[in-house]
Amino acid sequence: MERFVFLIVACAFALLASNITSTASATIVEHSFFVKNLTVNRLCNEQVITAVNGSLPGPTLLVKEGDKLVVHVFNESPYNVTIHWHGVLQLLSAWADGPAYVTQCPIQPGQSYTYKFKIIGQEGTLWWHAHFSWLRATVYGALLIRPRSGQYSYPFSTKPYKEIPILLGEWWNANVVDVENEGLLSGLPPNNSDAYTINGLPGDLYPCSENQTYRLNVVRGKTYMLRIINAALNNQLFYKIANHNMTVVAIDAGYTQPYFTDVVVVAPGHTTDVLVTFDQPIGSYYMAARPYASTVPAIDFANTTTRGLIVYEGDTSSTSPPMPELPDFADTPTAHKFYTNLTGLAGGPHWVPVPLDVDEHMFVTIGVNLELCNTCAGGQRLSASMNNESFDFPSTLSMLEAFANNVSGIYTTDFPDEPPVRFDYTNLTFINDPDLIFTQKSTKAKKLKFNSTVEMVLQNTAFIGIENHPIHIHGFNFHVLAQGFGNYDVVNGPKSFNLVNPQIRNTVAVPVGGWAVVRFQANNPGVWLVHCHLDVHLPWGLAMAFEVENGPTPSSTLPPPPADLPKC
Ligand code: C2O
Repeated sequence: MERFVFLIVACAFALLASNITSTASATIVEHSFFVKNLTVNRLCNEQVITAVNGSLPGPTLLVKEGDKLVVHVFNESPYNVTIHWHGVLQLLSAWADGPAYVTQCPIQPGQSYTYKFKIIGQEGTLWWHAHFSWLRATVYGALLIRPRSGQYSYPFSTKPYKEIPILLGEWWNANVVDVENEGLLSGLPPNNSDAYTINGLPGDLYPCSENQTYRLNVVRGKTYMLRIINAALNNQLFYKIANHNMTVVAIDAGYTQPYFTDVVVVAPGHTTDVLVTFDQPIGSYYMAARPYASTVPAIDFANTTTRGLIVYEGDTSSTSPPMPELPDFADTPTAHKFYTNLTGLAGGPHWVPVPLDVDEHMFVTIGVNLELCNTCAGGQRLSASMNNESFDFPSTLSMLEAFANNVSGIYTTDFPDEPPVRFDYTNLTFINDPDLIFTQKSTKAKKLKFNSTVEMVLQNTAFIGIENHPIHIHGFNFHVLAQGFGNYDVVNGPKSFNLVNPQIRNTVAVPVGGWAVVRFQANNPGVWLVHCHLDVHLPWGLAMAFEVENGPTPSSTLPPPPADLPKC
């Protein structure tokens, strides 16, 4: 009931706050986001969080492909904030991408900024989240993109009766900015979360959460589309529904070949649209999510389970609903099967062919390292890097402004195409090699010619431990050509590429102690962050950036910054 009221309030708010106008060219969908303190009750505690428009998750934005979104963000919170539209390609609108100090300075308390961008060539589910500190723990929401001609023109035969966002989140009984800062100060991993959530609610396996359980009322015999989003900070999640299977039809706002499965795995940043037909006997069934924790050697993680209820119309039973049997936390075979069996389309109006001529070959190591530090216990702290460069965010000007105005000293364009030395990347016995394990901070981008095709091998390293890292590229979708375990074989690897119907993503979960090969076309000028979407690794430096030069024409040139772009 409480959830029901919450939904109505949230919907009413979204409607009130949104303003839809149609012009000859594009429909403009306008929203206002008020970011401010909100006191909520979770897990027997009262907690002040940062939230948008007084709700957790924040408002669901609904658009059609081709629409223009205009979102006025008013920062009435005590923190600096930015909003990132995760997965939106931002063609010629890099100023609206949102990562703090990359495409903009943060919106300071009391200030505002209007994000304006079109959604072009993307259909399915994306999401928005804060891109400053750990604020995205509570500042996030769904972005649903329907086809231009409405929800009856999906390219799969079963038309969903209803579409339901399932936002999986992560909750701390603490101020998340403090949790992050305490972790950084100690040089050790930050505190684990206290719960996972489904649409902001932990579910009845947690204390004081009996009536904080997400409830989805369904009509028997109907097919629903669940738009699953992993908005958790630091954990991949397995998701299942008791007694029901699912058919994946889209990932990261791109259609897939239908893929039938009883389990979905989502890494932070991923979205997965599934069709579920509620064809079981009238009753109630749990949906549940818990981590896929890949790290070897195993580390301490938040090993709790969130669940919600699916209630068939007419259910009067009083027996306790069945609970899905979730994979083990370390079930890499199940995760790998799901991640590698997904394929994209091969033909049709939504097909994006793989670019075949590669201009830039990059081999990039990713993983956790150490760095020396005078102020920390033991003189060293945890760090993370790509090609042994540990990314340091600028603080006086955004990289994009430096790019647009030719300002030097903010970043350099010498991000290496290869690691400094070749070694046995995934061999756990290398964990102590002092020449390789220590890294240093830098702010390096890789410069790309407009429209060049980039192929990137992402290779996990075994310092400290091996782990599946979800690597997100801002501003581009990429084809995932191949994935595997161990060290990538530069000679024979290309033989295993899927160049016909590879999955297209904005975030790839690189197999633990393994590699993935992605390819994309740099058709969008600007500065684009590439990073691990585990928020524990981003401030440690698991990031780099692409600087994509302007093209030859006005329509391939980044426009000047908007007048209200925040100042540092
Ligand atoms: Cu969803 Cu840079 O992030």
